[in-house]
Amino acid sequence: MSKRVLVTGGAGYIGSHVAVELLHAGHEVVIVDNYVNSSPPAITAIEAAAGQSVTTIEGDVGDRDLMLVTLDGVDAVVHMAALKAVGESVEKPLAYYHNNIGGLVTLLDAMAEAEVFQFVFSSSATVYGDAKEVPIPETAPLSATNPYGQTKLMAEQILRDVAISDDRWSILALRYFNPVGAHPSGIISEAPKGKPNNLMPAVMAAARGDLDKVMVFGDDYDTPDGTGMRDYIHVMDLASGHVAAIDGLDSRQGFDAYNLGLGSGVSVLELIAAAERASGQTIPREIVDRRPGDVAASVADPSRAQTELGWTATYTVDQACEDNWRSQER
Ligand code: NAD
Ligand code: WQD
Repeated sequence: MSKRVLVTGGAGYIGSHVAVELLHAGHEVVIVDNYVNSSPPAITAIEAAAGQSVTTIEGDVGDRDLMLVTLDGVDAVVHMAALKAVGESVEKPLAYYHNNIGGLVTLLDAMAEAEVFQFVFSSSATVYGDAKEVPIPETAPLSATNPYGQTKLMAEQILRDVAISDDRWSILALRYFNPVGAHPSGIISEAPKGKPNNLMPAVMAAARGDLDKVMVFGDDYDTPDGTGMRDYIHVMDLASGHVAAIDGLDSRQGFDAYNLGLGSGVSVLELIAAAERASGQTIPREIVDRRPGDVAASVADPSRAQTELGWTATYTVDQACEDNWRSQER
C-alpha cells in the first residue's frame, strides 16, 4: 500500500537515501529538516536520484505547531532527525538531550494529536555499549557510554512506554551498525558540516589526498589483525530496511527493535585495503593509540530482521567503497 511518509532529517546522509528508496517503492515523501547538519542541495539530489519530487519543509521537529500542520495526511513517520557526533555529545550533553529527546517527545505528542500512529526510529548499535556477545542479537543487554548513546537508549525506552500506553501505536526501532557507501549513481554524497570523525570519511579523504594519512586507532585489540572490527552496512541496504519497516508496520502493533547489519565484521586495515582497490590510490596510514571509548568488535546478528521483516543486506563493503569513491569524484 502506498503511504505518505514524513521523513524527519530527510536531507541528511541516511535520510536522503531513505527518501529515494521510499519514492522508488511508490510512497509519497515529505521531508522536514532544519539543515543543522545538511543543506538544501541535498533535496535536489534526492529528486534527481529518484526522478520524482518531494515536499520539503524547513523547520525543527521540536516545533509542535509546525509538526501538527506537517502531519496532516501523513500515514507514517521515519524519525531520523538527530545530532549524532559522539565526541560533541560529551561536550554538549544538553544540546543532545534537547534535540534528540525533546524533539522526539514533541513529535510523538503531535503525532498522537494528529492520530498518526506508525513510527520508524533511527536507533543505533551504540545501544549495545561494549557487547559481550558478538554477533550481537537484539536481546543483548543495553547500555550507553556517552550522551549520544544515552539519547538512543532513552528514546527506545520512551517508544516502548508510548507503545504500551495506546495499542494503536506501531513502532519499529532500527539499530543501524556502521553506515557507509552512497547512492550508486554518485548523485548523493555524505556532506556533513563539521569535521568527520568516522573511519570511511577519513579513508576517502586520505585517498583523495585531502588527509595525509589515516590514523589507525590501535592494533592490539582481540581481533584477527588487532584493529577494530565493525559491521559496515551500505546506506542503500539501510534504505531498503526502512522500506521493509514501513511496509511491515500495518501488520504489527506495539514496539520492536531490529538490527540492520550484514552479520560480518571488517577490520580497519581491511576497510583501508577495500578503499585502495576501489580508488586505485595508495592510502597512507599510521598505527596510533586506541581511541578512548572504542570497542574491539561490533557486529550484528541480523537474523531477526531477515525472518520478521524479510530484509537482508545485499551490498558488499567493496561496493560501498566504490560508491563512496564515485560520490567523491563528482
Ligand atoms: P545526518 O546528520 O546526516 O542527518 C540528520 C539530519 O537531521 C540532518 O539533515 C540534520 O540537519 C537534521 N536534524 C537534526 N536535528 C533536527 C531537528 N531538531 N529538526 C529537524 N531536522 C534536524 O545524520 P545521519 O548519519 O543521516 O543519521 C540519521 C539518523 O541515524 C540519526 O538519528 C542518527 O543518530 C542515526 N544513526 C546514524 C548512524 C551513522 O553512523 N551515520 C549510525 C546509527 C544511527
Ligand atoms: C570505526 C572503526 C575506530 C576513525 C560510530 C559511533 C556509533 C555510530 C556509528 C551513530 C573503529 C576506527 C576510526 C579513524 C580509526 N553512530 N577508526 N581511525 O566508532 O564504530 O561508531 O559511528 O549511531 O554510535 O560511535 O565508527 O567509523 O568512528 O570507527 O582507526 O580515523 O574505525 O577505532 O574501530 P564507530 P567509526
